[in-house]
Amino acid sequence: MRIVTIIGNRPQFVKAAAVSHKLRRAHDELIVHTGQHYDDELSRIFFEELGVPAPDRELGAGSGSSTAQTARILAALEPVLAELRPSLALVYGDTNSTLAGALGAAQAGIPVGHVEAGMRSFDRSMPEELNRIVADHASDVLLCSTETALRNLRNEGARGEAHLVGDVMADVLLAFRDIADRESRILDARGLEPGQYYLVTAHRPGNVDVPERLERLVELIEALPARVAFPVHPRTEARLEAADLFDRLEAAPHVELTPPLGYLDFLKLALHARAVLTDSGGVQKEAYLLGVPCVTLRDTTEWVETVEAGWNVLADLDRDAALAALERRPPAERPELYGGGHASDRVCEVVAAYTARL
Ligand code: UD1
Ligand code: UDP
Repeated sequence: MRIVTIIGNRPQFVKAAAVSHKLRRAHDELIVHTGQHYDDELSRIFFEELGVPAPDRELGAGSGSSTAQTARILAALEPVLAELRPSLALVYGDTNSTLAGALGAAQAGIPVGHVEAGMRSFDRSMPEELNRIVADHASDVLLCSTETALRNLRNEGARGEAHLVGDVMADVLLAFRDIADRESRILDARGLEPGQYYLVTAHRPGNVDVPERLERLVELIEALPARVAFPVHPRTEARLEAADLFDRLEAAPHVELTPPLGYLDFLKLALHARAVLTDSGGVQKEAYLLGVPCVTLRDTTEWVETVEAGWNVLADLDRDAALAALERRPPAERPELYGGGHASDRVCEVVAAYTARL
């Protein structure tokens, strides 16, 4: 059976790293890269480090508003799907590439599988929330990371068949954790000591596109009581520059700004951090899986189990709440939440069973 995987940005390259090779053992899988992320440090490095098979088609969608980007992907995808005629299209996560991939395939009458289906923050101001909902309701096979996601889909009456498979990012993390620890030189290169620094990431429009919120983020980072490693996403860099905050942050003696990092360097930084402060979905999960306390710079999360387990605190951009959260001792227990590294096997089983019925 032919399966077309549609991916286009950083977290999706990580997720496909878990699944694509395994799918290819039984299927004719082809990868379509939408071009939403195009810089080497957001795209090529993940294909190289994680061995994601090279894209078979590139749509070159590039940057722009959500509407413009989604429209460009849809328009470019239509002839590609008509040419490739897959039995199933596979999409991941909640980005504009997910939305356009699911919608474009569904409009072409191609069944859609959605990996990481059913995640909800219940915050409609996030562009991802609309993407998730539309992608889920356009999908035929809903591959869920958590029980909560399954429940969300049931509550919404999603018509696709839903399966609990675990989280494919956990598979990648578990496969690469020791390799990253052995091979990455990032701590030495940046003069960081294990356990003596915080790792920060931020790129949500709700935090970085609103100048007053961005300044609160900068103030929060300035107040952190240890060194800080902050790989800066290009959206964030552009907003910091526009608000004259980049130089201020760079001048803070305890803050180490870096470009976006490859997976291995980032994983090594996360593994040895005293704590992680982030507004990323994937990074919250990864902190949990590594046993590193997380402070989420938002007031909602899709990954509610990490909060319930006591390893993640929602502090939004409240500096005092974040500092208080960093004082907490992590719990003794860290239950298995994300499938223990077997999610990609389950994705392949479900896909095989579904396509066998077509
Ligand atoms: C997108 C996703 C977000 C995901 C994130 C992962 C949507 C709505 N958002 O956000 O869910 O968490 O990717 O990192 O799909 N840019 C570059 N180089 C690139 C790509 C982008 O410089 O290779 C810059 C451009 O100025 C662009 C900005 O970053 O306007 C934002 O890129 P975009 O893909 O629109 O959204 P992200 O913020 O990356
Ligand atoms: N990541 C990375 N380098 C970085 C920042 C993040 O390799 O400088 C990885 C991180 O380990 C995770 C993924 O990118 O696997 C998360 O992507 P991001 O935070 O951009 O998106 P989100 O998960 O919020 O959609």
